[in-house]
Amino acid sequence: MPVQRTLSIIKPDAIAKNVIGDIIRRFEENGLSVIATNMTRLSAVEAGRFYAVHAERPFYDNLCAFMSSGPILAMVLEGKNAVTLNRQLMGATNPKEAESGTIRADHADSIDANAVHGSDSEENAATEIAFFFSDLDLHSKL
Ligand code: CMP
Repeated sequence: MPVQRTLSIIKPDAIAKNVIGDIIRRFEENGLSVIATNMTRLSAVEAGRFYAVHAERPFYDNLCAFMSSGPILAMVLEGKNAVTLNRQLMGATNPKEAESGTIRADHADSIDANAVHGSDSEENAATEIAFFFSDLDLHSKL
């Protein structure tokens, strides 16, 4: 399995619920290392740039409003098969469909307030990591 990096975001709903530690514990206990962190608050315009791929979708405006409604924690995760592993740990986008024991099953309330974001491919991970971090911010353990 290849070692990969992926972008994880703890969204405003999960920050408000005080579950940052629980979410990071799941990553670490499953072999992923946090190699960069950035707690920040996006403007609606910045959220729109991050999610530009969804600009034509009906949920885009709500998504941008929600992602700029409070602080987020952006992180780079590194480990074997990190992109897929992170998505397995997150569970399905809609928490009603998320497997029990996943982050979204345990902490998400709706498809909008769904606790976490994770890159969906290695190519998108590189783009999303570069949105929040420069190479100097990444502290690989390898
Ligand atoms: P995320 O993984 O951050 O990627 C885009 C987000 O859009 C997604 O999580 C959801 O929070 C949100 N969203 C809202 N409605 C939908 C939908 N119908 N399909 C996909 N994503 C949606």
